[in-house]
Amino acid sequence: MIDCKTRGIEAAELSAQTRAEIDELLTHYPEDQKKSALLGALTIVQHENQGFLTEELMAAVADYLGLAKIEVYEVASFYSMYELKPVARHNVAICTNICCMLTGAQDIVDHVEKKLGIKTGESTADGRIYLKKEEECLAACAGGPMMQVNHVYYENLTPEKVDEILDSLE
Ligand code: FES
Repeated sequence: MIDCKTRGIEAAELSAQTRAEIDELLTHYPEDQKKSALLGALTIVQHENQGFLTEELMAAVADYLGLAKIEVYEVASFYSMYELKPVARHNVAICTNICCMLTGAQDIVDHVEKKLGIKTGESTADGRIYLKKEEECLAACAGGPMMQVNHVYYENLTPEKVDEILDSLE
């Protein structure tokens, strides 16, 4: 079913900047292993597209890396760091895995939900912030509680620190 879905999709055009960033990424892998750059390439493309991927952009990544569209779609729809629909200008993910939970992640989630007036998995009405539903370990366990805002990690969070970070987002 997904294969049918991806078959007729026209690829979007990747910007010169995006292509240059993917090209740089490709230098880290053997010529015949372009698939290894897929996660990074999708991250670059998503970042350039205001935080989400379209089917046309996924098709463009597939073409650029010489992969089947379905391969790209499977990866993009599997990993939690990719959004397949518009969410908000800023993507906020609070880690709630075990180390962060033990250092107070739930208090941070509660604080952010109250401050923004939304639950996890929702966006603010002004389209400013999307609070991701759940985020598993983001590999910064020693700095818990932590959250990722767009591509930036913030660690050892307190409610005051969170307020400062969220208030700085346009
Ligand atoms: S448990 Fe939160 S970063 Fe690992």
